[in-house]
Amino acid sequence: MDARADLIDPFHRKITYLRVSVTDRCDFRCVYCMSEDMTFLPKKEILTLEELDKACTAFINLGVRKLRITGGEPLVRRSIMSFFESISRHLDSGRLEELTLTTNGSQLSRYAKQLAECGVRRVNVSLDTLVPEKFAKITRWGRLNQVLAGIDAAQDAGLRVKINTVALKGFNDIELFDIVGWCHARDMDLTFIEVMPMGDIGNEERLDRYWSLDELRSRLAERYTVSEVSESSGGPARYARIEETGQKVGFITPLSHNFCESCNRVRLTCTGELFMCLGQEDKADLRAALRNEADSDGALFEEAIRDAISRKPKGHDFDYSRQTVSGRVSRHMSHTGG
Ligand code: GTP
Ligand code: 5AD
Ligand code: SF4
Repeated sequence: MDARADLIDPFHRKITYLRVSVTDRCDFRCVYCMSEDMTFLPKKEILTLEELDKACTAFINLGVRKLRITGGEPLVRRSIMSFFESISRHLDSGRLEELTLTTNGSQLSRYAKQLAECGVRRVNVSLDTLVPEKFAKITRWGRLNQVLAGIDAAQDAGLRVKINTVALKGFNDIELFDIVGWCHARDMDLTFIEVMPMGDIGNEERLDRYWSLDELRSRLAERYTVSEVSESSGGPARYARIEETGQKVGFITPLSHNFCESCNRVRLTCTGELFMCLGQEDKADLRAALRNEADSDGALFEEAIRDAISRKPKGHDFDYSRQTVSGRVSRHMSHTGG
């Protein structure tokens, strides 16, 4: 195997984590993520599963060790299991350390077992409330029961489950202890996320809904002893432990505590755009290089990747601190899958 130079960005950060959005479509319409009447990409714009595999393989050859499949909802893409099956060869060879996904859980009943067979060890499931009516409201189209059944299937298949909960004031703040307790009872990890200003979602109520995780943590500390832990999952979350139960809770705080300095990731979309930062507009179009038939050894594609990484910005500019939303980006979260 050839030893190529690692991908290092202008701020000396090594890029070892690739998030790949395999579809912009989703069977839910979460209010903070999408507008109700989203227009989706025409099929001809979308990379084939073979092209996605080729792109991921090129990144793995350049030092990516963790691959997270996202969407939209990744499991609504047709034949997506064949992609997981094929990519799992990089786990077998030991070149890829982790293959995982972030999902809304709606299709897990169907796919959990196959995912486990492909070497997936854990899944992140987005879930903001345990109340069926509230779930229907926040996802517009989702049904809580279907997601809970998916989580059961994932655990039955031996997958470790992490719940991702977007912290929303006036929505799930009153469920804080229920959600924490539920995850503990089911032996699932839990991470809270601050709501970010991405995409036009119709009525802009994100600022009203923004619940700083500093506040959430203080609320937790009213009932529990909450202490810092140093471990990392290679993602942006910082972790704390609830001493009374030993439970670990993650905090993703793009607004209250920027974590960009340790950023190790880039995002590939289903059309072959590479976003070097979740919170910036700049992107590199890799599709032409990926489809260039004259590039038989992939040298031009590698060059396109390196060129993109050389433009990775320092970080995002999201900011609500002056009681307005600034640093917003125009694309929806579903475009890059978070
Ligand atoms: P693990 O730590 O491996 O469990 O994964 P992760 O936290 O990287 O992945 P996950 O899909 O659970 O990420 C949760 C959410 O964190 C994403 O959907 C984004 O909303 C947010 N997030 C992830 N990376 C970044 C980042 O680089 N910048 C910002 N601002 N938010 C991020
Ligand atoms: N801010 C924060 N998190 C978001 N997600 C979707 N939109 C936003 C937003 N505007 C989360 C989802 C899911 C992950 C893919 O990103 O809840 O956990
Ligand atoms: Fe779909 Fe996930 Fe966006 Fe919700 S957050 S609409 S589940 S892509």
